Amino acid sequence: MEQPTSARPAAPAGTSRRTVLCCAAAALATAGAASACSTETRAHQENTGPKGTIDLGDPEAVPVGGAKLYRTERVIVSRPDKDTYEGLSAICTHQACVIAEVEETEAHCTCHGSRFDATNGDVLHGPATAPLPPVQVAVKDGRLTAVRT
Ligand code: FES
Repeated sequence: MEQPTSARPAAPAGTSRRTVLCCAAAALATAGAASACSTETRAHQENTGPKGTIDLGDPEAVPVGGAKLYRTERVIVSRPDKDTYEGLSAICTHQACVIAEVEETEAHCTCHGSRFDATNGDVLHGPATAPLPPVQVAVKDGRLTAVRT
């Protein structure tokens, strides 16, 4: 008697159903993107980060003329001068990966290679086409805070 067979091919070892679905979605969205799927992409559904008023700590941690990534909090803060702080979302506008790093004033999403200006959110390199949205930041009582709704 013939054994029933699965219509679905077996996933490679260590590949979950969610990974396969994620990569399939990425492939549909951007040709060739499936190979770029990573843990970051798989987690994009959970990347919204904390909400409300978020303590970012000592404001002096943000370099004057530069920017700092607060990855856990999903916020990028730039500091154009000593007393001015500006915030951006650190969630990539392409497929919602968390920005991986900020070098000087450039934010990098390593999921598919998008790059953003960390001072204003502008896209410097796709596949993202939309800028990083602003996040309200403030310094109060010597602490840097961000407000995410
Ligand atoms: S999620 Fe694709 S480049 Fe950031």
